[in-house]
Amino acid sequence: MNTNPAIILTGGLGLIGKSTAHFLASKGYHIIIVDIAPNCEFASDSISYIQFDLMLIENYTALMEKVTQLTANLKGVINNAAFNPKVEDNSISVGKFEDLNLLEWRKEVNLNLTAPIFLIQALLPLFNHTDATPCKIVNVISTYGLVPPNQDIYKGLGAIQGKEVFKPINYPVTKAGLAMATKYLAVYLGDRGFNVNGIAPGGIANNQPQVFVDAYAALTPMKRMAKVEEMMETFHLLCSKGSDYINGQIIAVDGGWTAW
Ligand SMILES: NC(=O)c1ccc[n+]([C@@H]2O[C@H](COP(=O)([O-])OP(=O)(O)OC[C@H]3O[C@@H](n4cnc5c(N)ncnc54)[C@H](O)[C@@H]3O)[C@@H](O)[C@H]2O)c1
Repeated sequence: MNTNPAIILTGGLGLIGKSTAHFLASKGYHIIIVDIAPNCEFASDSISYIQFDLMLIENYTALMEKVTQLTANLKGVINNAAFNPKVEDNSISVGKFEDLNLLEWRKEVNLNLTAPIFLIQALLPLFNHTDATPCKIVNVISTYGLVPPNQDIYKGLGAIQGKEVFKPINYPVTKAGLAMATKYLAVYLGDRGFNVNGIAPGGIANNQPQVFVDAYAALTPMKRMAKVEEMMETFHLLCSKGSDYINGQIIAVDGGWTAW
């Protein structure tokens, strides 16, 4: 069994998750990815994989059994998995509020908000507090959990796709809920050996249509989208000694998007 400090990383096979897994593994952590895909092609001694559908919250006891088989030194969890309808894969086209669909709403609330809260609850007894260093809970929010989407940046996409495109309400509302859960738990768990914080990434460049990239950049003080690697040091900070007295904060890594 790998005895290094272990961090559960949900959604570790996605855009941000994959980079985070490699980066934190290179810093000496044992990363345990929990994701829904059948397998993880980059699993190794320092990156373990549990295939699990985080929407199945009633089955978290079974998930905890798998975690205890992989580590006796759990020091952190990064709640990163979410439905993240992406401009680049053309999946955000149902965003009109008038067309808001109850099933989609429930799915997104379940994965983006309910799952991280119940995962933290289920993991609580598993954290290792014997070495007197704090355990780390990190929730991945979004700038859209701090400020609402500016729908103007989606208009250009609508023009090229021949339809109106909006960022749906589900995503920002669930992310704002997760931001409040972060602050709530920072207070609730603050004297029990935890730091509970969040990271709010700005939009990450990932081959989006140029019309979108330009519109996004124009609204960002730094005049460009983020690079995924620019999130990594903040993930590391929030999982390591540097954050031992940071609690209840949401760090925006957004080029200044939320500053004006
Ligand atoms: N990409 C961005 O620009 C951006 C910006 C701000 C915030 N974020 C946030 O960062 C996080 C990661 O985003 P990303 O762009 O890497 O997303 P992504 O869609 O690339 O990855 C999400 C991962 O979650 C997994 N997943 C989906 N449903 C699951 C389920 N039911 N059970 C277990 N795993 C499941 C997917 O398989 C995937 O590997 C999300 O919380 C997202 O909201 C992303």
